[in-house]
Amino acid sequence: MKRIILSICLFLGVHATVAAADRDDERMRAFVMGLPKAELHLHMEGTMEPELFLAIARRNGIDVPYDSPEAVKDRLRAAHDLPSFIEIYEELISVVEQPEDIRDITLAYYRKAYSQGVRHAEMYFDPQLHLERGMTLEMVFDGLAAGRAAAMQEMDITIGFIMAFLRDRPAADAMAVLEAAEPWHGQLLGVGLDNPEVEDFHLKFEPVFKRAASYGLRLTSHCDVQQEHTIKHHWGVIEVLGVERIDHGLNVIDDPELLKEVKARGIGLTGVPSLFYRDMPGRMEYRAGAVKALLDAGAEMSIHSDDPGMKRGLYIGDLMLRAREAAGMTREDMITLSKNSFRTAWISEDARARYLRMIDDYVAAFDEAHPEMVSVP
Ligand code: HPA
Ligand code: ZN
Repeated sequence: MKRIILSICLFLGVHATVAAADRDDERMRAFVMGLPKAELHLHMEGTMEPELFLAIARRNGIDVPYDSPEAVKDRLRAAHDLPSFIEIYEELISVVEQPEDIRDITLAYYRKAYSQGVRHAEMYFDPQLHLERGMTLEMVFDGLAAGRAAAMQEMDITIGFIMAFLRDRPAADAMAVLEAAEPWHGQLLGVGLDNPEVEDFHLKFEPVFKRAASYGLRLTSHCDVQQEHTIKHHWGVIEVLGVERIDHGLNVIDDPELLKEVKARGIGLTGVPSLFYRDMPGRMEYRAGAVKALLDAGAEMSIHSDDPGMKRGLYIGDLMLRAREAAGMTREDMITLSKNSFRTAWISEDARARYLRMIDDYVAAFDEAHPEMVSVP
């Protein structure tokens, strides 16, 4: 009899512990999702979900070889590195033809991001990809402006734009776009570099960045993860291009001198622990581990979503939670990541102070409502 009672108690005890752990997981999820965040690294084109891609193709009368979102995801399963991903990214974005397409893509993104705590977004876009297919700069900027206006009317969010140049195309094309975009320079926060990482791209784009800086535009550049010549490229974007942020930037952890320089200059690293549709064991662990190590080393590290529509529909809060789990990050790490996103955002000092206070107020209110969570790491 005693043994039976003991077994029942043990059973109930285990159940209570599991239930408490589930509840804590759920609360932690709510906590991370609700943390105010700045999204600093995402590509307008890469936010397009498979469903929206099909809807836009249909309304533009474009035949695509996919009859369902699943078929689009199957195509995305071919992506396994930067060049193979960009090949599909360029293919999918080719259905965009009208300003309304860009408006719809961006508004869908802002809604999703807002629901995961984003209160300020700095959105990359690739004008060259649209000009190549016959859109004009005016159409691209009109679409971006319409998406922003609709979002700001609907949500408490601020939005800025970063004009990207394609690293695998001639620098002369980038210079021509920079000059042609002069009427819209006031709409831009800055310029950046994306697409596949070609060797010594920092040397190729030095004159373009010098010109952009002379127009008062801020500077950032991708240094993607585990690319050839990555350490040389990190030094190049810092010393030759003079960037304030590095998109991805996770391999800074591999070089102590580089890490020292990044910290000394307060350069923001916009990491992305994303997943391709293809299963790639270790990818999340590697990236989340680098984020955690850089955070522990005191770098201005934050987490962002890059191409959420084309990488399993995982947005900023989803990725922070996945990275937390993969690298054993703490609640305090989540708060620091969010604060760093505002510390390195291109916003006024007033706005920065307001957003950082918003985070402190949010944490205080959450702890008051859930005192049992304060001790959960
Ligand atoms: N790296 C480079 N180019 C890109 C990316 C990226 O992560 N996403 C969209 N264009
Ligand atoms: Zn990117």
